[in-house]
Amino acid sequence: MKQIIVGTHRPDSNSKKVALFVQKLYEEKGEKVGIIDLAQIDIEQSHGGHFGGKAPLPAKLKAAIDTIATSEGLILIIPEYNGSMPGVLKSFIDYWKYPESFEGRPVAFIGLGGMWGGLRPVEHMMQVMSYRNAYLFPIRVFMQNVWKIVTAEGNIEDTNVVTLLKQQVEDFQKFCKALQSQGLDANSKNSQRS
Ligand SMILES: Cc1cc2nc3c(=O)[nH]c(=O)nc-3n(C[C@H](O)[C@H](O)[C@H](O)COP(=O)(O)O)c2cc1C
Repeated sequence: MKQIIVGTHRPDSNSKKVALFVQKLYEEKGEKVGIIDLAQIDIEQSHGGHFGGKAPLPAKLKAAIDTIATSEGLILIIPEYNGSMPGVLKSFIDYWKYPESFEGRPVAFIGLGGMWGGLRPVEHMMQVMSYRNAYLFPIRVFMQNVWKIVTAEGNIEDTNVVTLLKQQVEDFQKFCKALQSQGLDANSKNSQRS
């Protein structure tokens, strides 16, 4: 199953609303997609224990990491915080297993922000994923002045953005299938490895 990652733990975030909206778009295309919400994982309370330490990972964090490592593809919703991605998102990624979680994992990107619509954090994240040999889906969506177009109820009031999101959904589905068909995606590679 593909997973949408809500790239922040900010309460009542626009990222969560966009994640739910995108999940519905996949549903309309006949596909059930999961959501990993960083607000539900308590990542910041996990610090220190396992980076070289002996403390077991908190259960929700471990479950999320395991889900990433078997996902069919990832859709990253990334809000711009101070010109980059939220620290909590990078923290989460630093817990992922390497190479299983990254190599050959298809990843799509949606940016949220002000004037540049999250271009910076998306490009920062593309560097991270590219460095780790994920398959980067090229059609990205940038949501400019996101607070003006995402309503309190979670609708997106910008027809252009909705069209781009639908296009991303449709083509990312094909992208993932194409990689699977040739055994190039992360799950195929992991099964060859074991
Ligand atoms: C801590 C913080 C820093 C932000 N920094 C930027 C920024 O550098 N550039 C920008 O365009 N928007 C910035 N914003 C605006 C956010 O991108 C925008 O409010 C977006 O909705 C945040 O996503 P969220 O609602 O999912 O947290 C910032 C917001 C927060 C909370």
